[in-house]
Amino acid sequence: MSSERSLVLVKPDGVARRLTGEVLRRVEAKGYTLVALAVLTPTREQLGAHYAEHEGKPFYEPLVDFMSSGPVTAAVIEGEGCVRGFRALAGATNPTDAAPGTIRGDLGRDWGTAVQQNIVHGSDSPESAAREVAIWFPQL
Ligand code: RTP
Ligand code: MG
Repeated sequence: MSSERSLVLVKPDGVARRLTGEVLRRVEAKGYTLVALAVLTPTREQLGAHYAEHEGKPFYEPLVDFMSSGPVTAAVIEGEGCVRGFRALAGATNPTDAAPGTIRGDLGRDWGTAVQQNIVHGSDSPESAAREVAIWFPQL
């Protein structure tokens, strides 16, 4: 039995729009298991670690500003293939392009902000997931 895990974040836009339940509903309806759950406002230091790969890119500072602007819901999910599976549930990064049926396609849009506000984050590989879970849930 695989125990692949992924780190999911409902970003500040998703929490502010009361979409945490809708995102978690889709995760559970897909059949993945919730392993850990927390609501917190991330520090810039925590986000620096989480988004280290994006440091120096033009959207990095707006991204950290946005992600530290309010509470996020952080979750660890588990299930065979859940890293790729959650990315499929989330849809394309740009919510304007994300396919209907996905979280970003159904619930997201371009608001004209400096950085795309696209409701959720999902780890992009099992290696990223392990690194990110350690940042958000050091107790696991
Ligand atoms: P995520 O990490 O949030 O799951 O999203 P992702 O893999 O689909 O996208 P990634 O390339 O890792 O970018 C992280 C987040 O930065 C914002 N972004 N904005 N050109 C832009 O305006 C731009 N590019 C990236 C998005 O919020 C994206 O999810
Ligand atoms: Mg990413």
